[in-house]
Amino acid sequence: MGMKVLLIGGGGREHALAWKIARSPLVSRLWCAPGNPGIKALAECVPIGVEEVEALTHFADEHRVDLVVVGPETPLTLGLSDALRARGIAVFGPSRAAAALEGSKVFMKDLLARHAIPTAPYRTFRDAEAARAWIRTQGAPIVVKTSGLAAGKGAIVCATLEEAMEAVERIMVQREFGTAGDEVVVEGFLRGEEASLLAFVDGERVVPLAGAQDHKAIFDGDRGPNTGGMGAYSPAPCLTPALTRRAVEEILLPTVRAMAAEGYPYRGILYAGLMIDGEALRVLEFNVRFGDPECQPLLMRMQSDIMPFLLACANGSLEGMQVEWDERAALCVVMAARGYPGSSPKGDAITGLEAAALLPDVQVFHAGTREENGVVVTSGGRVLGVTALGHGVAEAQRRAYEAVERIAWEGAQFRRDIGYRAVA
Ligand code: AMP
Ligand code: GLY
Repeated sequence: MGMKVLLIGGGGREHALAWKIARSPLVSRLWCAPGNPGIKALAECVPIGVEEVEALTHFADEHRVDLVVVGPETPLTLGLSDALRARGIAVFGPSRAAAALEGSKVFMKDLLARHAIPTAPYRTFRDAEAARAWIRTQGAPIVVKTSGLAAGKGAIVCATLEEAMEAVERIMVQREFGTAGDEVVVEGFLRGEEASLLAFVDGERVVPLAGAQDHKAIFDGDRGPNTGGMGAYSPAPCLTPALTRRAVEEILLPTVRAMAAEGYPYRGILYAGLMIDGEALRVLEFNVRFGDPECQPLLMRMQSDIMPFLLACANGSLEGMQVEWDERAALCVVMAARGYPGSSPKGDAITGLEAAALLPDVQVFHAGTREENGVVVTSGGRVLGVTALGHGVAEAQRRAYEAVERIAWEGAQFRRDIGYRAVA
């Protein structure tokens, strides 16, 4: 008897998770709530939204689901894992209290400070005038962030004092990010190269994945406002094996121990956004889920069956486990709708999906798509994650863009330089 799995989410990350979970010989049935047209080929999609904690828990109970895999952060911060565990259902994903590592930057920064885990110097504020006064004493460049969730758009890197004042105005006065901006973190600007190190965590133990890098800015050359992520690749050349070991010893393990010691044992994926500057290694952010789009290239490279890892995180039994990786690189190019990261129109018909899927070692992961009369149309900002394997990042890049060229819709936008650092 195989296992019954319920996956929560409907973006590119969840399409990649569905693709990987569906390949596991341990799984006999896979549902996805709410899923998307790409996921539909791999799982039975259930029309329940990711924030409907009660309905999701009820569905898992009723269908005797063996494992729930939570993709996005919002249901985690709403306590979905707690609700499932209370009913005796195994879940891959941290508790509500542990999800504060992502859900509250104030919690995260204070935890790191209490445990001397390296991160940028910071202050937290609830009052705009106090924030302005401190910023004046610090000067620019400086970074102003909402404490709460803002879909990757709540961190404003300010090159000048004027920009910093404007960021305070937008977050704290105009309240552009709503209650996410009730508290802000103002922190020192860090130089260096960013990398993402994700790890499976079972409450105590840490099993790192391969390194990855993403591109957050909307335009080529890392210019323009931040987005949820316009592309990603793995491996990340700057995350050498030695630096990865240091990141585990100096950042991931101390954080997992700190969480356990303070009464919030962490289970699930822990994503550390790192800034690497020569020998200096610091935390920019934590996410309590797979990165999107980092998940797409990472899972294409992951050779091990993912199910034993998801189960071990849920059950506290990661001891001695290690992930096997494809030696090849993988690279994902996000195709977004016009207007993104601002509001974007929906309902534009997408062509070329079949032609792109014919290319070997290419997966076109759906993110913001829906089906209208049998036609796949755009339905969100980030629409597709076109991902390819290749011998080295340069070849993966060439193959991903070959697939991107086959796909089109009115006003599609994508960066043309995903992976440039690794290729250089
Ligand atoms: P966060 O949501 O905190 O990860 O911030 C989003 C992005 O803003 C990061 O990926 C960085 O590119 C940039 N950023 C955030 N904090 C800093 C910092 N202290 N110094 C430099 N860049 C930063
Ligand atoms: N790609 C960055 C994130 O998932 O937060």
